[in-house]
Amino acid sequence: MNPDFHFLKLCRESFKAASDATCDLAGTEAAGKYVCMGADGTPTTKIDIAAEDAIVEVLKADGRSMRILSEELGELVIGKSPEFALVLDPLDGTYNASTGIPFYNVSIAVATPDLSDLNFGYVKNLAIDEEYYAQAGKGAYLNGKPIRASGNSDLKKSCISVYGYRQNSEKTFNLYRNVRRVRLLGSVALELCYVASGKLDAFVDVRQALRLTDVAAGQLILTEAGGLVTDGYGEDLNLPDNVMNRVDMVASNGHVHGKLLKLISRG
Ligand code: IPD
Ligand code: CA
Repeated sequence: MNPDFHFLKLCRESFKAASDATCDLAGTEAAGKYVCMGADGTPTTKIDIAAEDAIVEVLKADGRSMRILSEELGELVIGKSPEFALVLDPLDGTYNASTGIPFYNVSIAVATPDLSDLNFGYVKNLAIDEEYYAQAGKGAYLNGKPIRASGNSDLKKSCISVYGYRQNSEKTFNLYRNVRRVRLLGSVALELCYVASGKLDAFVDVRQALRLTDVAAGQLILTEAGGLVTDGYGEDLNLPDNVMNRVDMVASNGHVHGKLLKLISRG
């Protein structure tokens, strides 16, 4: 039996609204149309805004006071005295959604209003039936079943997701030479969940590109599944309290973590 997940209902209602608002747009030319510059400093497309508007409507109707940090709108406070904060990526994997690659999702993290503690993480694929969630101290779940990160400690047998830049290709080149398989799927939140459920052994992003909204929910899901998340130097990931600042990330099953950090430090 699942523990009583306090925020699951709100996350599911938000997901449903985003799904209804985007299902006819996904994979069409109109989906990727530029609408405006988002609060995170990247362009907002038609499908991004459709998902965000639909979720914000659900949150406004909820009745509780909350602080929202969302990729396109930035910060929004509903009511006078927020009981909690929601860190929202209404559509993670915009390129995939626009082109119809079935790997994009809604990502929601619930935290204390000052973001000092993450309490609940929710990531659900909008294209196929994969719902991941985790509550702090109560484990991580995929479609209602408990998940664990893989037990593999042999880098030579590992499958990892790697994001790098042309400018620092030496770092990622070292990884490519030392692992068995590389997969790069185009949605960070889901890729973290794939590490949490043992499909990938690790996820590495050395672009200095990840925002709070990309990683907050997936980070909790992975740590609750027994994995480890750090910055690119092996230190605690200090997520900024805004949607602009960007970080590097190494996220793994814990067993290959040190080896990955060593490899990227040589680049
Ligand atoms: C993006 C995706 C993508 C990653 C980018 C993110 P968005 O999120 O997670 O995989 O490479 O860094 O910005 O913009 O589609 O929500
Ligand atoms: Ca997004």
